[in-house]
Amino acid sequence: MNTLSNVGISAIALAISTLAFSAMAKDSYQIFIKQPNANTAFQYIHQVAIHPRCQNCHGQVDEDGRFYPTVGEQQLPHPMNITTANNVVLFKDGEIFKQVPGVALSCSSCHQHKNGNKRGMPPGNITAEMPGFVWHMPQKNMVIPDGITAQQLCEKWLDPAHNSSHLVQRGGKDDLVTFKREFHEHHVTLDPLVAWSWSPGPGREKAPGQHQDFIRAVGVWIDAGAPCPQ
Ligand code: HEC
Ligand code: HEC
Repeated sequence: MNTLSNVGISAIALAISTLAFSAMAKDSYQIFIKQPNANTAFQYIHQVAIHPRCQNCHGQVDEDGRFYPTVGEQQLPHPMNITTANNVVLFKDGEIFKQVPGVALSCSSCHQHKNGNKRGMPPGNITAEMPGFVWHMPQKNMVIPDGITAQQLCEKWLDPAHNSSHLVQRGGKDDLVTFKREFHEHHVTLDPLVAWSWSPGPGREKAPGQHQDFIRAVGVWIDAGAPCPQ
């Protein structure tokens, strides 16, 4: 009797540990933490990029060509019919980002400098390092499409035609020095919108892992020559 129930218990324990292991095996973040190299780093970067916190603001394009942000874990179209027609357009005046005036109802009419303190309120974030850089969405070529593979994402980001809306290009596979400076040291490390994904405010799941680990992963990947998963 005693022995039988012991067998039962250890069978359950085994089943639980197998389950826990297979859940972990799919978690690219844990794999990167245990074994940091260019490949595990990019798998983790991909896991982050396809999370709703990143995908929502990078937006979706519908059949009519409307380009709009999505909200929440279900990634539904932004309420109130918000599209790029409402977007904040920024330009740089020295080191300060300024908004092109003239958009009647823009992102910054609702999205403040920090998260609303209740569920359902508009999120927001700013940092001292990028003064004036407020909540807005990127251009259409920067959509992170559903189902994009790690390899496709890697190639997209390394292509300068896709990775900046400013005239100053962010580098790419032919210019990894600029890419490292602009993409890693600037965008991933200092951009308040990227950083926000790990402090998204009440009622929203944060992006996988930690912002610091994401910064580290991007560094490991670029320092190894930014290889794309095959
Ligand atoms: C009229 C007010 C208003 C305007 C204008 C507005 N938003 Fe929002 N936005 C909200 C509110 C409220 C929420 C929170 C909705 C929720 O969490 O259910 C929100 C949520 C979001 C989210 C969801 C974040 C997440 O991961 O769940 C994104 C992305 C977003 N807005 C982008 C934008 C962008 C980009 C613009 C400008 C093009 C914009 N919004 C304009 C009110 C607004
Ligand atoms: C609130 C909106 C917002 C959120 C949230 C956001 N981004 Fe962005 N992202 C932008 C904007 C705007 C740009 C364009 C900036 C530019 O052109 O310099 C951009 C550009 C980028 C680029 C440049 C290359 C490209 O083709 O997309 C990358 C990479 C990127 N974001 C990654 C991320 C990741 C990863 C996350 C989540 C951790 C994230 N973003 C969350 C607004 C957002």
